[in-house]
Amino acid sequence: MTKKQLEESSLYLRNKGFESPEIGILLGTGLGRLVDEIESSVVAHYHNIPFFPLATVEFHSGKLIYGILENKKVVVMQGRFHVYEGYEFDDVTYPIRVMRELGIKKLFISNAAGAINLNFKKGDIMLIEDHINLQGGSPLAFKNVADFGVRFVDMSQPYDMEMCAKMKEIAVRESITLHSGVYASVVGPQLETKAEYRMLKTIGADAVGMSTVPEVIVANHLNLPVVAVSVLTDECDPNNLQPVNINEIIRIAGETEPKMIKLFMELIREL
Ligand code: HPA
Repeated sequence: MTKKQLEESSLYLRNKGFESPEIGILLGTGLGRLVDEIESSVVAHYHNIPFFPLATVEFHSGKLIYGILENKKVVVMQGRFHVYEGYEFDDVTYPIRVMRELGIKKLFISNAAGAINLNFKKGDIMLIEDHINLQGGSPLAFKNVADFGVRFVDMSQPYDMEMCAKMKEIAVRESITLHSGVYASVVGPQLETKAEYRMLKTIGADAVGMSTVPEVIVANHLNLPVVAVSVLTDECDPNNLQPVNINEIIRIAGETEPKMIKLFMELIREL
């Protein structure tokens, strides 16, 4: 990755009409319908954006959508890149750098995750207040990282406290159950064993998923305030573990999505 590539990616998007977006939004698996709320939208398909990571079959539909949401200019990534698809960490996080290059001032992230904390139920939402990186690598571990910012990025407060506080207020006002907790990111794509769920609980995780942490690390590298939520799609009880059902996970994500959309839209309105 070079600065020139980032500039070319963002120039292409600017020429298409992606003019000074304020907020970037990254939507997780089964959580893409927020884009239906966007007005005056412009769409760019990932495969047409110069230097965007090369698509896999699954990614033919990946797109960036620019438009107006709650009177704010937003750019939304519908479909993200995962390490489990064979992408490198700098591929996974390249779009975050492009959105920053376009001018975003805040980043919103959602994902689908399993509940490790068994006080949390499937269909609940968890505000991510901290994380544990179990992906075995870093999006900042490359030779010319110094061209893009500092190497030793502070992670003492990776999620923006002001946006977190506002989102909690909104949840109370809207009567939406919003837990807070620690998100552990694994590579996947296999789900976890019972022993792994026990370990995750022991080390302090409240939820587990296969995304988000690389993007949050890069957001911190870019001094970009970030807020992130997990839609809890399954309960990871090692003493009563049911075989995973991906269709069920996607169904629960879809059912819970309207609450996530409400939280995001209200927070965007208040910013
Ligand atoms: N583990 C990892 N990723 C997930 C899970 C899980 O239990 N549920 C949804 N995404």
